Amino acid sequence: MQDCSPYLCPCVLFVAPLQSTCFLTRSILLSPSIILPSADLNMASILQKLITPLFSGPPELPRNKVTVVGVGQVGMACAVSILLRELTDELALVDVMEDKLKGEMMDLQHGSLFLKTPKIVADTDYSVTANSRIVVVTAGVRQQEGESRLNLVQRNVNIFKHIVPLIVRYSPNCIIIVVSNPVDVLTYVTWKLSGLPKHRVIGSGTNLDSARFRFLMAEKLGIHPSSFNGWILGEHGDTSVPVWSGTNVAGVNLQTLNPEIGTENDEENWAETHKMVVDSAYEVIRLKGYTNWAIGLSVADLTESLIRNMNRIHPVSTMVQGMYGISDAVYLSLPCVLNGGGVASVVNMTLTEDEVSQLQESASTLWDIQKDLQDV
Ligand SMILES: NC(=O)c1ccc[n+]([C@@H]2O[C@H](COP(=O)([O-])OP(=O)(O)OC[C@H]3O[C@@H](n4cnc5c(N)ncnc54)[C@H](O)[C@@H]3O)[C@@H](O)[C@H]2O)c1
Repeated sequence: MQDCSPYLCPCVLFVAPLQSTCFLTRSILLSPSIILPSADLNMASILQKLITPLFSGPPELPRNKVTVVGVGQVGMACAVSILLRELTDELALVDVMEDKLKGEMMDLQHGSLFLKTPKIVADTDYSVTANSRIVVVTAGVRQQEGESRLNLVQRNVNIFKHIVPLIVRYSPNCIIIVVSNPVDVLTYVTWKLSGLPKHRVIGSGTNLDSARFRFLMAEKLGIHPSSFNGWILGEHGDTSVPVWSGTNVAGVNLQTLNPEIGTENDEENWAETHKMVVDSAYEVIRLKGYTNWAIGLSVADLTESLIRNMNRIHPVSTMVQGMYGISDAVYLSLPCVLNGGGVASVVNMTLTEDEVSQLQESASTLWDIQKDLQDV
C-alpha cells in the first residue's frame, strides 16, 4: 500500500508503467547516468522525454512527518485538521482495519490538489511510520454511551502494549501525543511502554476541556473564545479542575468582580459552565455517537506548537510527580510550554488551596486505577 522502499524496489529491473507510485522508479528511469542511444529515443517514455533529473540518489527523508495511529472518527479528524493547517510534509496512517485504512488513505490522496502535504501513506505495518516527528495515537476502543472514560482502561492498555513499542522502533526520536481514553492513564502507560523521556510523551489532556470551557464562557460574555482566558487542569474528564481564580478577560480577573465565582454560594451559578464542560462529551456522544471535530482541531493546535517550535502554552497531560504535593507517578494536565522538543517546561500556576486539593484528588483517582494495571 505504501510507496516502494527505495532500496528494495523491484521496479529497477524493468521499465515500470508510468502510473507506478514508486519513487525509485522515477529516479532510476530519469537518472542522468542512463544515456539513451539516439535509436532508443523514440522508445523513451513521456516521463523520460519530459524531465531531465539532476540528482538520482535516494529520496529526501521527510522533515515534519506526522503519523496518526487509528483511523476512526477521532484519528481522521486529527489527520484532516493537521493537513488543512499545512503542518506536515508526510502524513502516515496506521490501523488494523485494512480496507478502512486504504479507503481513508485514497480519499485523502484524491484531495491532494487542495492540500500542501505531498505524501500521504498508510499501512497496517508500522514501517510506514518511520522517521515521524510526531505520532498521534487515537487507536482503541471508544467510550460507549454513559460509559466512564476510566472503564475503558485495561482494554486500551492491551492495545497499547502492541502499538507503542512499534512506534518507537521506527521513530525513536518522535514525540507521542496520546488521545485515546482514558487519556491521562494511557499517556502514563505510553511513557512506561515507550522508554521515551517524559517530555516527549504528551497527553491531549484538558486541552479540549479548556477549549470547551472557553467557548461556553465566551458565549455567555458575548466575546470570542480566544478573548476569554481560563484553564481547566487535572484529569481530562469527570474530576477536571476549573481554575476560577485565573479566569480573566483582557486582564480583568473575574474572581475580583465576583469573589464567589465557581462556588456553591455564587448567585450567578458560573459553576454550571464547568458542569456543562464535563457533561458535554457525554451529550455529544448521546447525540451523534462519538466526538471528533473539536478534539481533531485541538490536536492540530498542539501539533503546530511542536512542529513550529513555538513555545506556546497549552493545558496538556504531563508527568506531575513532585508538583503541587503530588507524590504518585501520574500524568495530569498543567499549563505546559510546548516546543520542538516536546514539553519544555511547566508553568507554576498560582492556585488556591481548594484548587490544589482538587488536583490532588484527580491524581489519587488516576493512581487508584494505574496501580492495578497489568503488564505496564
Ligand atoms: N482525549 C480526548 O479528548 C478524546 C476525545 C474524543 C475521543 N477520544 C478517544 O479517542 C479514541 C478513538 O475514538 P474514535 O471515536 O476515533 O473511535 P473509533 O472506534 O472510531 O476508532 C478507533 C480506531 O482504532 C483502531 N484500532 C483498534 N485497535 C487498533 C490497533 N491495535 N492498532 C491500530 N488501530 C487500532 C480501530 O480499528 C478504529 O479504526 C477513543 O479512546 C476515544 O475515547 C479522546
